[in-house]
Amino acid sequence: MDTLSAVPKIEVLIDEETIQERVKQLGAKIRADYGDESLVFIGVLKGCVPFIADLARAVSGHVEMDYIQVSSWHGQRNSTGIVQFKKDHDIDIQGRNVLIVEDIVDTGLTLAHLRQVLSTRNPKSLRVVSLLNKPEARLHEVPVEYLGFEIPNTFVVGYGLDDGEMYRNIPFVGVVTGD
Ligand code: IMP
Ligand code: MG
Repeated sequence: MDTLSAVPKIEVLIDEETIQERVKQLGAKIRADYGDESLVFIGVLKGCVPFIADLARAVSGHVEMDYIQVSSWHGQRNSTGIVQFKKDHDIDIQGRNVLIVEDIVDTGLTLAHLRQVLSTRNPKSLRVVSLLNKPEARLHEVPVEYLGFEIPNTFVVGYGLDDGEMYRNIPFVGVVTGD
């Protein structure tokens, strides 16, 4: 069984206080942009969980929360079926103001596909909020209307982001140093 001492060191990239402050700013900006209209957050499981929980509490007024889960097949060359839905949302988004809530935009493949699929369901508006962005890794251009932080093209964990399902519970974003 794993022990705490076996957990490798994580070098802090974005500390907890900085994340919390930025999430509050994003929440206030989103509410200001939409006025008193109701919002539907569609979180992308599993990485979105800490972010959507904090963000939803930073947006005042009517906010509904739902979730989707997808598996991405990076590196595959066929252009069909590359992003597969494992779980769809339950709330009917037709005529609603929808915000896709993501942990990170890397190649952009997942988000490009999600934007395309959700837009066919006729929301009133569709925007994306992502905690992190790795612009250097982008292969598929995709708009991200609300962004927490830009980071270098390096693998990060924490605040929802995992490496083999570990580290999602770390309250900051960091890099596994391996020692
Ligand atoms: P994309 O389709 O390449 O943009 O990948 C998006 C998904 O890959 C994210 O939602 C994450 O689940 C995962 N991912 C990308 N970069 C990282 C990382 O640095 N750490 C952990 N997960 C990542
Ligand atoms: Mg994700």
